[in-house]
Amino acid sequence: MRPLLILLVSLVVFNLRLSSAASDPINQSLLRCLSQTIHAGEASSIIYSKSHPSHSSVLRAYIRNARFNASSTLKPLIIITPSAESQVSAAVTCAQRLGFRLKIRSGGHDFEGLSYVADEPFFVLDMFNLRAITVDMADETAWVGVGATLGELYYNIWKNSRVHGFPAGVCPTVGVGGHISGAGYGNMMRKYGVSVDHVVDAKLVDVNGRILDRKAMGEDLFWAIRGGGAASFGVVLAYKIKLVPVPEKVTVFRVERLLSENATDITLKWQTVAPTTDDNLFMRMLIQPVTRNKKKTVRITVIALYLGDSDSLVSLLSKEFPELGISKQICNETSWIDTVLQWANFHSPTQPTALLDRNPNDANFLKRKSDYVQKPIPRKGLESLWKKIIEKAGRINNGRILRVQSMCINIIHVYYTRGIF
Ligand SMILES: Cc1cc2nc3c(=O)[nH]c(=O)nc-3n(C[C@H](O)[C@H](O)[C@H](O)COP(=O)(O)OP(=O)(O)OC[C@H]3O[C@@H](n4cnc5c(N)ncnc54)[C@H](O)[C@@H]3O)c2cc1C
Ligand SMILES: *[C@@H]1O[C@H](CO)[C@@H](O)[C@H](O)[C@H]1NC(C)=O
Ligand SMILES: *[C@@H]1O[C@H](CO)[C@@H](O)[C@H](O)[C@H]1NC(C)=O
Ligand SMILES: *[C@@H]1O[C@H](CO)[C@@H](O)[C@H](O)[C@H]1NC(C)=O
Ligand SMILES: *[C@@H]1O[C@H](CO)[C@@H](O)[C@H](O)[C@H]1NC(C)=O
Repeated sequence: MRPLLILLVSLVVFNLRLSSAASDPINQSLLRCLSQTIHAGEASSIIYSKSHPSHSSVLRAYIRNARFNASSTLKPLIIITPSAESQVSAAVTCAQRLGFRLKIRSGGHDFEGLSYVADEPFFVLDMFNLRAITVDMADETAWVGVGATLGELYYNIWKNSRVHGFPAGVCPTVGVGGHISGAGYGNMMRKYGVSVDHVVDAKLVDVNGRILDRKAMGEDLFWAIRGGGAASFGVVLAYKIKLVPVPEKVTVFRVERLLSENATDITLKWQTVAPTTDDNLFMRMLIQPVTRNKKKTVRITVIALYLGDSDSLVSLLSKEFPELGISKQICNETSWIDTVLQWANFHSPTQPTALLDRNPNDANFLKRKSDYVQKPIPRKGLESLWKKIIEKAGRINNGRILRVQSMCINIIHVYYTRGIF
């Protein structure tokens, strides 16, 4: 039981204009180098130098934190967008030969923009084209290209089976490359652990440009790229995952309580029930500042996924957590893919094809930080947290939005999101 507390601080981003160099000597040398390994036409079609008219739109396509969408953020000299594995090898070899730092980007959701921001001249290797997903129902596995999003993965599993799923994050636009190499947690983690617990093979381009599978890379490297952040070790091309079984009908609910509705008592109780209850049940808690009758207060929201039917869920919670007041009426029995959509805040009913949308264009200014909380936060601690949240939320009038999110099971997230300037 290791709850994790995520605290965030707003940052000010200054708007500075930088003039961009017009000539591309680096493009020339990179092109020459790439052309030694791959076809010259192929090489020029995957290079976006700074003066290329599409450079900034290609870069922006996967910027998911508006904090790094400023003109003061150092831009990559060149973006390479491989569509074949051999091109990744060529890019790694050539970036090394030219002495440029290579940043690898899959879905662009890195909290600090590490996949496309650097403080020295750099290239971005943008993996979005390498996003093939091949599901093999005979052995219940799938090869997933790193450029795929979690939403595309869930959609493809659903197309093949209504009784399989995969334990990974709840945000559908997160990229498989960064997510799985960093472990990946989500709303089935109590039953199935993290994503990397279900990775059975991988394809990686090492520092010498060689393409290695699990057998060729060896167990130590294979271990490292399942949680250790793969960018330190190479470029992952794809992961092979084992699917997990999910019931045809699962249950979700969402309960909101204000401070005046015993939110503090419920949070205290939630901290002991959520990490110890039936493994089929995951309950996330969101903590948010809200205004009621012109007064600021705190609202908690418990959002749950239960891998079972509503009858057994109601009987479980009426024993373990009667304060939450769960009845059959507020439970939704539905398919696993529908719960993916509901957790991603799509209005019910929404077609699963919505998970294929790569362009939500909803990037906020945000700063996120994680910390571990080893034991439940006592009442006094919660009360001072509420006070802080209300105090910060008061800045909404100055054009700042504060959002605090707390996430359950061994984990509490608190996100301070800086909104519109
Ligand atoms: C809105 C939002 C919601 C999130 N929700 C969850 C959640 O529910 N559960 C969870 O576990 N996490 C969640 N995260 C965190 C997310 O899983 C990580 O930030 C993850 O690293 C993002 O992967 P990416 O491919 O989208 O990011 P990127 O920014 O592309 O990459 C992240 C890091 O991985 C490296 N990397 C990317 N691709 C490769 C590759 N092919 N080979 C080697 N290195 C690579 C990058 O260089 C960078 O260091 C969330 C993040 C955001 C912004
Ligand atoms: C890079 O250089 C090649 C060769 O001069 C040119 O064809 C190509 O358009 C350049 N690409 C960019 C993105 O500048
Ligand atoms: C980045 O900035 C551009 C130009 O101001 C804007 O059009 C785009 O929506 C922004 N994208 C994000 C993710 O903030
Ligand atoms: C259950 O589904 C209905 C109809 O789709 C929806 O209006 C309601 O918000 C859902 N409830 C929950 C708890 O998700
Ligand atoms: C709050 O707790 C009290 C005492 O247990 C109870 O009587 C009341 O109904 C609760 N209120 C809500 C909104 O759950």
